[in-house]
Amino acid sequence: MSQKIIRVAGPAAQACDMGASFMGEVVKLGAMGLIGEVIRIEEDIATIQVYEDTTGLMPGDPVERSGEEFSVELGPGLLGGIYDGVQRPLGLLASGWGNFISRGAQVPRLDRSAKWDFHPIVAPGQMVTGGGELGHVLETALIIHKIMVPHGVSGEVAKVFPGKRTITEPVVELRDGTRLFMRQKWNIRKPRPVHKRLPSTRPLVTGQRVIDSLFPIALGGAGIIPGGFGSGKTVLEQTIAKHSEARIIVYIGCGERGNEMADTLEQLRELTDPGTGRPLMERTILIANTSNMPVAAREASIYTGVTIAEYYRDMGYDVVALADSTSRWAEALREISSRMEEIPGEEGYPPYLAGRLGAFYERAGKVTVAGRQETGSLTIIGAVSPPGGDFSEPVTQASLRMASTFWGLDSQLAYQRHFPAINWRTSFSLTHRAMSRWFTENVGDKWPTMIAKTQAILQREEELEEIAQIVGADSMEEKERAALEAGRIIREGYLRQSAVHPVDVCCPLPRQMKTLETILGFISAMTAAVGRGALLEDIITSPLVERLLRLKEAPPEGLEPLMESLREEYRTFFDSLEEK
Ligand SMILES: Nc1ncnc2c1ncn2[C@@H]1O[C@H](COP(=O)(O)OP(=O)(O)O)[C@@H](O)[C@H]1O
Ligand SMILES: [Mg+2]
Repeated sequence: MSQKIIRVAGPAAQACDMGASFMGEVVKLGAMGLIGEVIRIEEDIATIQVYEDTTGLMPGDPVERSGEEFSVELGPGLLGGIYDGVQRPLGLLASGWGNFISRGAQVPRLDRSAKWDFHPIVAPGQMVTGGGELGHVLETALIIHKIMVPHGVSGEVAKVFPGKRTITEPVVELRDGTRLFMRQKWNIRKPRPVHKRLPSTRPLVTGQRVIDSLFPIALGGAGIIPGGFGSGKTVLEQTIAKHSEARIIVYIGCGERGNEMADTLEQLRELTDPGTGRPLMERTILIANTSNMPVAAREASIYTGVTIAEYYRDMGYDVVALADSTSRWAEALREISSRMEEIPGEEGYPPYLAGRLGAFYERAGKVTVAGRQETGSLTIIGAVSPPGGDFSEPVTQASLRMASTFWGLDSQLAYQRHFPAINWRTSFSLTHRAMSRWFTENVGDKWPTMIAKTQAILQREEELEEIAQIVGADSMEEKERAALEAGRIIREGYLRQSAVHPVDVCCPLPRQMKTLETILGFISAMTAAVGRGALLEDIITSPLVERLLRLKEAPPEGLEPLMESLREEYRTFFDSLEEK
């Protein structure tokens, strides 16, 4: 056998005598044994995507086939982990993400020495099939890790090994001698099977008012956050990672700067789970392929992340996978494609860009898991960074077609420091209507009407602003100026939300409901007063408005009485206006 490299081009290489290889096969290249994956085979020439820096790799260097598909290792020990795009654990130096794994190093993905206390739920004589639960271990103080039968395996349980085991010791042995472990492997490019996909009827509550109220994302939905540089994509993804109601978070830092990943990690380490007081990292997995790391591994990173996310979904959890940024992923795809001399499509991206993006977002969903009567969900949220903030470019356009929720970030809003800079005119949630029943039942009967009213106020403000630009705000009627003021109150007092204010950073749904109710109550009273001839000037100069705008920052203790007294005061205030 003389499988040899015949060409090296950046992150891609070609090898001859590879007729027996297959798509997705893991190979080792050169004397250092650099890891690669076969991504194309033509006759006996294989094209290989190399996951490590190819400097020094030369034609004539040997290629070693593994006979195995490129896969991730799944099992206890993932949570709290920080991995590169091909799931090699990254140690973090205090100074940042400098210490890559040395090239060709053989590092186990999961810790081989850790012992996990296995609690079986199966007994000898019982039949098990792929996806079925064998038992569980307590992976972190926050998360029970279900040990599941690998897909494609089934049989009768012969022996069970409870108690402290490592992931390389069997926990169950089947009658036919098959030994089952706490770890399994899965090809990252293949979605993990499910029993059934379910319709999305409830939201993933994020604690962000503009999202949950106006553009909610379905539990199991796919959302995108396109926005120019500095418009707040990373902060929004971090905020969702920290405060959404998901049980497990997989955060994929993809081609962005290392210091941003370090910052994300720092924040997750500091914050604790409100229920248990444990660090949020105990329910989080970070995949970091920063801008200075090999591009081929960046291409793999989103699949590595989503596969791990599916694995926790299969345990019955609500999982969120966040990718920042899918544009950097697409650039990696483009670079590999161009090195392979494929025919380029729009702006140099390969013609299969949209297909790949689609396949990624389609892995989101609410499902009945394979092998058990249990539901789990995977919500995928991808940041998109269009150059110059121009949404007409291919990655944004392709992503737009895949996503059911679109939070378009607006540089103008970011410039005015209106965060999250989600543009309420262009953003949408296609699943909002399908979830309206859930909102009515769980937030309140009045909710849909309140949201419709909020949208109408914003819409009216927009129309009036256009008019004001032509005729000038001064020549507008008092009623119209009141409508503009109503829009401002909604924007400032409700949509705008700080990611750094300790209270405002997360607004639970019941609080969203009460805050909005108070604000809308004020607006109706203001509109009515102006209708009866009160002067707008008298209203907007009242300290009540400022207090209304700051309601979102009031600590949760004592919020009820505060809102009550505010309502009481503005009722008295508007009555007094009338008397004047
Ligand atoms: N919700 C927010 N609250 C307060 N400040 C924010 C918020 N979102 C973004 N910012 C500010 O905007 C800056 C840029 O945001 P970032 O998420 O890094 O942008 P992007 O990832 O789109 O380039 C942040 O450093 C922060 O100062
Ligand atoms: Mg960013």
